Amino acid sequence: MNLTLRIWRQKSATAPGRFETYEVRDVLPDMSFLEMLDVLNERLIAEGREPVAFESDCREGICGACSLVINGIPHGGHKGTTACQLHMRHFRDGQTITIEPWRARAFPIIKDLIVDRSALDRIIQAGGFISVNTGSAPEANSILVPKDVAERAMDAAACIGCGACVAACKNASAMLFVAAKVSHLNLLPQGKPEKDRRVRNMVAQMDREGFGACTVTGSCEAVCPKEISLAFIAKMNRDYAAALLKGVPRRETATAA
Ligand code: FES
Repeated sequence: MNLTLRIWRQKSATAPGRFETYEVRDVLPDMSFLEMLDVLNERLIAEGREPVAFESDCREGICGACSLVINGIPHGGHKGTTACQLHMRHFRDGQTITIEPWRARAFPIIKDLIVDRSALDRIIQAGGFISVNTGSAPEANSILVPKDVAERAMDAAACIGCGACVAACKNASAMLFVAAKVSHLNLLPQGKPEKDRRVRNMVAQMDREGFGACTVTGSCEAVCPKEISLAFIAKMNRDYAAALLKGVPRRETATAA
């Protein structure tokens, strides 16, 4: 199939950006979206032109690197699918496809389709861990975890931190990401000793990074490639309220960049 691509080009964070149009020919239906961009870049390089900068790593839907807004929807709008797992058979011959980076104040553009998502890393550094004494590994069955609790924790842990929830939200809120990361540890017995501090510190860091507030429109859940449920936001709000009632303070210093 032959396609017309409108791609956001921007040399650096401070340079002005604009859409540029490219024709791509002989795209195979079984190519992934990123392979189609590889074909375009090989041609641009052969012509001595600047290739389009975009991010990818695993190309298997597990790392969250492929942050592309495709025709206005993060990851292209196919349920439970990352851009790297999106195949060209979902597009029509002759179609025009618009490709943009994530757009949010907390995700400044680095170049073309690549944005700086280190704000999410700093939220994890603020509380997305458990503290353990070093030494030999504990006996596997010394802490029993009920099956339903383990499954809910695993559902939350499926978040790959791609940032699509932020890109889809009209407020650029990171609540679904933070809720998933807080919940997957707060649900488990190993995460409970730091439960209150974790939710206070991760939410505080989220606010410092400039993400917007959640107004529960559900766009985050709709585009999440791992189908993280909005119910985790409700759980995080309950955990946050409980920590407030106990008078648990939040860390006042920002987590280092
Ligand atoms: S490149 Fe890893 S999820 Fe897409």
